[in-house]
Amino acid sequence: MTTSASDEQARREQELVELVVHSFDSSPDARLQQVMASLVRHLHAFIRDVRLTEDEWNVAIDFLRRAGDITDDRRQEFILLSDVLGTSMQTIAVNNEARGHATEATVFGPFFVEGSPEVPIGGDISFGATGEPCWVEGSVTDLSGAPVPNALIEVWEADEDGLYDVQYDDDRTAARAHLHSDEHGKYSFWGITPTPYPIPHDGPVGQLLEAVGRSPMRAAHLHFLVDHPDHRRLVTHIFVRGDELLGTDAVFGVKESLVKDFVQHPPGTPTPDGRTVDGTWSQTRFDIVLA
Ligand code: BEZ
Ligand code: FE
Repeated sequence: MTTSASDEQARREQELVELVVHSFDSSPDARLQQVMASLVRHLHAFIRDVRLTEDEWNVAIDFLRRAGDITDDRRQEFILLSDVLGTSMQTIAVNNEARGHATEATVFGPFFVEGSPEVPIGGDISFGATGEPCWVEGSVTDLSGAPVPNALIEVWEADEDGLYDVQYDDDRTAARAHLHSDEHGKYSFWGITPTPYPIPHDGPVGQLLEAVGRSPMRAAHLHFLVDHPDHRRLVTHIFVRGDELLGTDAVFGVKESLVKDFVQHPPGTPTPDGRTVDGTWSQTRFDIVLA
């Protein structure tokens, strides 16, 4: 039987895949061997699937070089790339297995800072950040519904111009803080009503989004990190119901279960803690269930 040219081509391509996959066989680290073998199989399948041209391969290499060039202590273009490809969210999904009605996790993002100020229950995390005041309250419970007292709750968000404190040239700390749930697992604080903002898009990732006609905008959100020694650490956000960006979040972070009502109140409406607010303010509730 004669072999056609296309059969011979497929045989050569597959032979290369097997050669590379088996080059990891004697790795002393079994997990590394598994990861590399699978990565190679998927990468080769991708190249064969799209019949990658050598020009395209060069573009990809140049893209990675530029991502490296722009990356420093404050800017991490490779994480951003992972975010816009949805691979950050897929890694989070794999590592935060669904358990009962535990609150869903979402992307961490680059703007968390260790050592935020502590505020009491009902305290104000804005520290002068501009924006409409927003009262946030809720509970922290476990999967059985029992309250989780003394859970660490870190919160951080952008101001009304869509900027985090760390994006300003001064060294302000604003719109971020931590607090602890009380003996009944309850918490509350004043923040600011979340506003949409773009992910950093002045680098290669921004160019990629532009080339494919995708927006760099994130749906408006407020970040939470909730931690307690007896429970799985939760990194998540809440989103604003009605935000038109919910369906096109640049990093695929939106989960329907994390979309909350932010009720708007006219000026002069009494607040839950008796504070006087000059203008409008909003109010939301986020009940957190830890796995
Ligand atoms: C953020 O929400 O802070 C964020 C997440 C992913 C990429 C850029 C920003
Ligand atoms: Fe954010």
